[in-house]
Amino acid sequence: MTARLIDGKGAAAELRAKVAGEVRRLVAAHGLTPGLAVVLVGDNPASAAYVASKKKMSAQSGMLSFDHRLPGSVSEAELLALIAKLNGDPSIHGILVQLPLPPQIDANKVIEAVDPNKDVDGFHPLNAGRLLLGLPSLAPCTPLGCIKLARIVHPSLVGLEAVVVGRSNIVGKPLAQLLIGQNATVTVAHSKTRDIPMVCRRADLVVAAAGRAGLVRRDWIKPGATVIDVGINRVTDEGGRHRIVGDVAFAEVREVAGAITPVPGGVGPMTIACLLANTVKAACLSAGLPQPEL
Ligand code: GUN
Repeated sequence: MTARLIDGKGAAAELRAKVAGEVRRLVAAHGLTPGLAVVLVGDNPASAAYVASKKKMSAQSGMLSFDHRLPGSVSEAELLALIAKLNGDPSIHGILVQLPLPPQIDANKVIEAVDPNKDVDGFHPLNAGRLLLGLPSLAPCTPLGCIKLARIVHPSLVGLEAVVVGRSNIVGKPLAQLLIGQNATVTVAHSKTRDIPMVCRRADLVVAAAGRAGLVRRDWIKPGATVIDVGINRVTDEGGRHRIVGDVAFAEVREVAGAITPVPGGVGPMTIACLLANTVKAACLSAGLPQPEL
């Protein structure tokens, strides 16, 4: 049996359409156009590609987008000054500083400088803490996208055995919290876990977010389980061509899994759609309006 493919591209297009509808409603009813500021430091080509995509998608959904490009040599003080300006600008509801940042800049300091109510990445310690406590918060976009993709296959995650492979602050840790919030039983496996294949084999849902190409193999997966692949790894094949592959050995895992996300076209597009949804939520937050269901 071959696994069902989870269509991240299609689900992202659907979510973006909902976001666009919500933007039209906010403009018409409240004269409120959500605005997203994206800050890119330096010229990392992968970061530049993400930022270009975010800009295009936010414009398509009717939001305002503000691009700020700073040279890789910028000082921490200059970046913090820009963030202070964006925090104080009422036309900006969401601020995203693309990571990674160059070594002269303390990323934690930058993350903490963003107004928590404009923190559409959900990286600020206040939002991380609120997520941990199960309080309303802006949650990180990639984990939100993973939950939405999992729920295409499992409308309810209650009682599901979920294993998250990876414990990053951006994906693994917040995803574990979101899964707990959905009443799943959650295990977080990582590079020091004693027997990852055995831990994964009991899972109904495996989310691979370790940043290692092809890490998750066929014998890690219980037949019929759902597999969500967060990995975006650039590899060179035998012909010397560059390709993007996930953290899952896709060809072999799709033969045992019940459902699987492709790379590209799985989690990636959902992340950007969730960023737009978070920006609409942040705009509502700023105006004291109820949060839309997105
Ligand atoms: N770099 C890689 N992923 C992300 C993300 O989700 N947000 C930001 N700001 N930078 C990233």
